Amino acid sequence: MPRRVCWRGFFLKEKAEGMKKDRSSVNGDTVVTGIFGDPIRHTLSPVIHNTISRLTGENQVYVPFHVEKDIGKAVAGAWSMGIRGLNVTVPYKQQVMPHLARIDDTAREIGAVNTLVRGRDGFEGFNTDTEGVFRALQDCGVSPVGKSAVLIGAGGASRAVAHALLTHGIEKIWLLNRTLSRAEEVAEMSSRIVPLAAEQYTSVPKGKYLFFQCTSLGLKQEDGLLIRDSAFYDMAEFGFDLIYNPAETPFLKVMKEKGVPCCNGLGMLLWQGIASHEMWTGRKVAAETAFHTATVLKRALYGENIILTGYMGAGKTSAAKAVSAAAGKTYIDTDAEIEEKTGKKISAIFRESGEAGFRDLETRLLRHLSDTAYNSVIATGGGVPLRAENRRMLQETGTVVFLDASPAEITKRVAGDENRPLLQRGNGETLENHVRNMLEKRMPSYLAGCDFKVKTDGKTPEDVAAEILRNISCS
Ligand code: ATR
Repeated sequence: MPRRVCWRGFFLKEKAEGMKKDRSSVNGDTVVTGIFGDPIRHTLSPVIHNTISRLTGENQVYVPFHVEKDIGKAVAGAWSMGIRGLNVTVPYKQQVMPHLARIDDTAREIGAVNTLVRGRDGFEGFNTDTEGVFRALQDCGVSPVGKSAVLIGAGGASRAVAHALLTHGIEKIWLLNRTLSRAEEVAEMSSRIVPLAAEQYTSVPKGKYLFFQCTSLGLKQEDGLLIRDSAFYDMAEFGFDLIYNPAETPFLKVMKEKGVPCCNGLGMLLWQGIASHEMWTGRKVAAETAFHTATVLKRALYGENIILTGYMGAGKTSAAKAVSAAAGKTYIDTDAEIEEKTGKKISAIFRESGEAGFRDLETRLLRHLSDTAYNSVIATGGGVPLRAENRRMLQETGTVVFLDASPAEITKRVAGDENRPLLQRGNGETLENHVRNMLEKRMPSYLAGCDFKVKTDGKTPEDVAAEILRNISCS
């Protein structure tokens, strides 16, 4: 499944906020934050908060707490232990309210609290879901000002979306739900909301709307759409599904088929977390930190990267394609990306800018991939691991696998392709000797920069891919 890399940020020289000194090891000064919920095992919030703390160098940890009963006692215990702040998730967003010293107006209007902040005489309750929706919309370049919206669903998530839209200038919201009475309850928030039963969808006047899919339909493979009439979605100028797993729901499929810009709920998840984090630390999270955290979140949710290194002819490209097919990962080839971006053949880049110029382009591309790539298998150019900086970036980006082939095997594979710049040699040196010498020089870098190696002599790409995936699932 080849994919074109998004080149946003490729030419940024350095991340505005790079990795700071890692002060994340827990000690007497560590600030503790966390989340209360039941169940809680699969929460992604620790990924968000601990990544931000790691990137900014703040001495803070975020821990999931499985609260099976008595949320009141959990809140009191957290207060006594000096916990700085907490998130609250299912089933406690309402139940927690009587145990708080104060509840912010937004949380009261939505009827749910998802964030506790340590106040003077108890925890104070807030709701950052609404801020999460708004900042996710901003990320997509969408403003509700002067627009109308169609909201599908009338649960807690729908209330947060409605609140965000109402406070940021939406004119009217048409709220459709399977159960009309629940839509009517949400409509009590504002006279700008028109509640409708799902089958009344034709009452929505013809026009263009921001569409929000806020039901739980789409979480399961067999789910469809609440409103099945495809023509209804022609009225969408933008589509937002609050679900983020799966990445593409039936609703988002329809949006894409119709060419409507759309996004899933991952941005909302990220930004509600960032809004909580900012309340606990009193500091804004920089855009670069948010961007990198989004990538780490995507890796945790949709799949980690696998990076293949090794000398030319070691079988990186064919093994990467086989891994892509076997594991459903996006295939990326660094040489091909550089050729596409610069519009030049690698041999031409070597001619015009020398090997150093080419290596600089590789380093920039790696920085970009470390910021953006997820669920990908990346075949790298043979010289990539030679720079210590590149080896560090590869390790940050994913699991690095060194494909090891013997000089004889490599010679067999590259014979006939001797135009490659690094195969140029003089003084009647044989190709095999040339390869042997290059390999000897590079071996320490390949070994220093990998998580494990796989020998490829005499193996099919599928064998190599299976061995890589086996090793990773065992590690
Ligand atoms: P949340 O707080 O995450 O929004 P919720 O309060 O359980 O979750 O709300 C779920 C939403 O999905 C509701 O709009 C619900 O419709 P009802 O109010 O009619 O229950 C909707 N929903 C869930 N399962 C559905 C289904 N099978 N068909 C149609 N709508 C469904």
